[in-house]
Amino acid sequence: MITWGISANSHDAALAVFDDNQLVFASHSERFSGKKNDPDLCDGLITYAADRWGSPNEVVWYEKPWVKTLRQWRAGQGFNHRSNNIKQYLKNYGISVPIDYQWHHKSHAAAGYYTSKFKDAAVVVIDAIGEFETLTIWHGKDDELKQVYSQRYPDSLGLWYSAMTQRCYLKPNEEEYILMGMAAYGDPDKLYFRMMYDFFGYNHKNIIKLNNNLHRGCRDWAPDLVVNDIFDIAAATQAIYEYQFEKILSKAKKLTNASNVVIMGGCALNCLANPIAYRVFEQVWIMPNPGDAGSSIGAVLAKTKQRVDWTTCSLGYDMGQKDSLESIVDYLEEHKICGWAQGAAEFGPRALGNRSLLADPRGSTIKDKVNAIKQRQEFRPFAPIILEELASDYFDLCGSSSDHRYMQFISRCRDPKSFPAIVHRDGTSRVQTVPNNGSKIRQLLELWFEKTGCPMLLNTSLNIKGQPMVNDIKDAKKFETCYLVKVFT
Ligand SMILES: [Fe+2]
Repeated sequence: MITWGISANSHDAALAVFDDNQLVFASHSERFSGKKNDPDLCDGLITYAADRWGSPNEVVWYEKPWVKTLRQWRAGQGFNHRSNNIKQYLKNYGISVPIDYQWHHKSHAAAGYYTSKFKDAAVVVIDAIGEFETLTIWHGKDDELKQVYSQRYPDSLGLWYSAMTQRCYLKPNEEEYILMGMAAYGDPDKLYFRMMYDFFGYNHKNIIKLNNNLHRGCRDWAPDLVVNDIFDIAAATQAIYEYQFEKILSKAKKLTNASNVVIMGGCALNCLANPIAYRVFEQVWIMPNPGDAGSSIGAVLAKTKQRVDWTTCSLGYDMGQKDSLESIVDYLEEHKICGWAQGAAEFGPRALGNRSLLADPRGSTIKDKVNAIKQRQEFRPFAPIILEELASDYFDLCGSSSDHRYMQFISRCRDPKSFPAIVHRDGTSRVQTVPNNGSKIRQLLELWFEKTGCPMLLNTSLNIKGQPMVNDIKDAKKFETCYLVKVFT
């Protein structure tokens, strides 16, 4: 029995394949279409999945399209049921099988809870908007998810964060992570912090209450701001988000009395705020793809209530590996930077060693060199990838070092002067730890450590600016030609 979980027709489409309830594949559509954040499925993705695991017997869709249509109509976006006709949408890709529809926030919650190792946990879902829900809290117990709190459009912390992203001249629903990176360069206590509080009201029923509907952004807010102020706005946005986030977590703790928490929804990508969860809960799990794309997995789990024994997010296109690890380490030692594309692509927004640009994190010029290759803003930090058992020698980690396998929390670097390329302006790093699991990236790190005495590498995604991460050998060659950086495969 082949089941496809699908999240598409909105933004960042994704497909997950379950073979008799075993998760065997998951990928963003963009990796096959080459279109960044592709909202739609594409033929390359469908063909790859069908050729490898067979055509689906059933599709589980990640939300209820007709309820979404109703919300869009109420929000003044017109009544367009045709665009949410999923049966027809899938037919256009040659898929004509029974479709099961799950609730948007339940798909998020299930993606988190059933991939966690917790039997008993509070599950917090924060995003911009589902069908109507914007913030939900669930109690996951003995493989059942029970909703204990629900908050609806237009009161949305995610929508507010996206509105501030747009006000800072960035792309909402896409570049929130850039706003987060800018926060370290601003002063949260300047004028904007106070002004921003006017967005929030009070209502005894809601955790988050907005005074205005921010669905269409707030382009006119603070009309006198000058470009340099956007760093202060970013800092204030982040500070307010963190305050509200802790409030939400405290409410979740109160409602469930659980020791563990699962955090899901697009807001769970806020790695600056995520360590706050350890102030309220003992253990934390964030599924590595907590946004809507991850709901392709979550939709199926919401239906089946099956647990996934999560060991990796390398679930995508598999290109194998041919170059020797010795040759890669030798090259890195000499040239300091190289690309590496191998094995199954990561399912999620972060490169975790399978589609990575790697560099020696030591030395004062590496950061500028990698920035020049990636053609990106200098305020955006690079992340270290480190042998798990040595991580706490170099970073002050929240939770245990195994909680850092997916780059979801910031940690303070203990020796920023020795590793300037992976330390952000505020002295923090987005650490990724690699366990002793025999993976290729683990073997590469071990060899690098053996030769250099340095247990970490700089790791950033292998992608051409504005394009998705490298997926296959053709993409890897294109990257090499475009940036004149050697890519090992
Ligand atoms: Fe969502």
